Amino acid sequence: LAMSASTFLPLSKPDIRNGFTFCKEHLTTILPLLATAAGTYLICRYVGKRSCKKSRVNREVNKDSPKVVHSIDMEDIGSKAVYCRCWRSRKFPYCDGAHTKHNEETGDNVGPLIIKKRDA
Ligand code: FES
Repeated sequence: LAMSASTFLPLSKPDIRNGFTFCKEHLTTILPLLATAAGTYLICRYVGKRSCKKSRVNREVNKDSPKVVHSIDMEDIGSKAVYCRCWRSRKFPYCDGAHTKHNEETGDNVGPLIIKKRDA
């Protein structure tokens, strides 16, 4: 991009404020740059928000709660319990097999936590 001193010489009467000379050529240079910067900012902001929401583990379980916690007594487990670790189960905190679809869609490899009594 070659620019000579005549590139920024005013064609019309210059508007001088605080020692700065402003002319049409400045506008034709600055306006596309400002439009590009504003467009880039808006695109980055939109993409940033979308990727932030996608990175959340919990998408729908007790969203009104500041923290999702479940407490289960050992005596209530019985001989075996299967707990969800992918956060996609409709029976959360129990696994309903939704991790299979999640893994297929995302390439992830999550599965349940299985707690069982040792075989005698
Ligand atoms: S449904 Fe989440 S681990 Fe099975």
